[in-house]
Amino acid sequence: MRKTIIAGNWKMYKNITEAIELSNGLKRELFKLDFESTEVVLCPPFTALAEVAEILSESDIGLGAQNMYWQDEGAFTGEVSALMLKDAGCQYVIIGHSERRQFFAESNETVNKKLKAALKHELTPIVCLGENLQERELNKTFTVIQDQIKQGLIDIDAEQMQKVVIAYEPVWAIGTGKTATPKQAQEVHKYIRDSLKKIYGDDLAQSVRIQYGGSVKPENILELMAQPDVDGALVGGASLKIDSFVAIVTKSSEVRK
Ligand code: 13P
Repeated sequence: MRKTIIAGNWKMYKNITEAIELSNGLKRELFKLDFESTEVVLCPPFTALAEVAEILSESDIGLGAQNMYWQDEGAFTGEVSALMLKDAGCQYVIIGHSERRQFFAESNETVNKKLKAALKHELTPIVCLGENLQERELNKTFTVIQDQIKQGLIDIDAEQMQKVVIAYEPVWAIGTGKTATPKQAQEVHKYIRDSLKKIYGDDLAQSVRIQYGGSVKPENILELMAQPDVDGALVGGASLKIDSFVAIVTKSSEVRK
């Protein structure tokens, strides 16, 4: 059985005061959750990580960053390393989000470098994959995903892969209100799991968690989670409000696989 994982990607929202308020509220509302079966992760902006870490320290909610650089330190103005994220209290890091690929020229190659650095420093990587609208319309979804997996996971062995979380986020469904239908999500999740099986074998493929991301809301989480290969969600907009994120987490935790 795979443990459900729900992560909130706050993107470039919430100043420090707002981040403190949101994380305090989530901690208060979620304290009764069965964390044995559901993992919850908050990914605030860099500037709020240390404060949110303090709030979450006495809770079962995890903390993640939205990006990192692969070197440990050096003259890399504006970048933040895995070591710095650990120091700020993170246990997770999102890697290769489509907004980073789209606006900041990240590629499968940089994803691979970041992934290795995250694993080296024992951060749990949430590696994002997904096709854009044009690619979907040209029936290139599986080819794009295949490249992202093959190139993104170069030199990652089976032991390391056990620690990786994958997030399938169709770019055309992010922030657009267009969710992939549960059937569309399941189809790609299964494709991802089958691809992992070819590289790492069935046991490992069955143990890797694959989150869905893209306009996840309290109204659609149950049907997405009902799909056999959907193991959780990477939530953007709906993670910015206590009510909607709590509803998503609570509903997900009721789905047993
Ligand atoms: P939305 O939930 O706002 O569509 O964002 C999804 C996402 O990109 C999460 O990483």
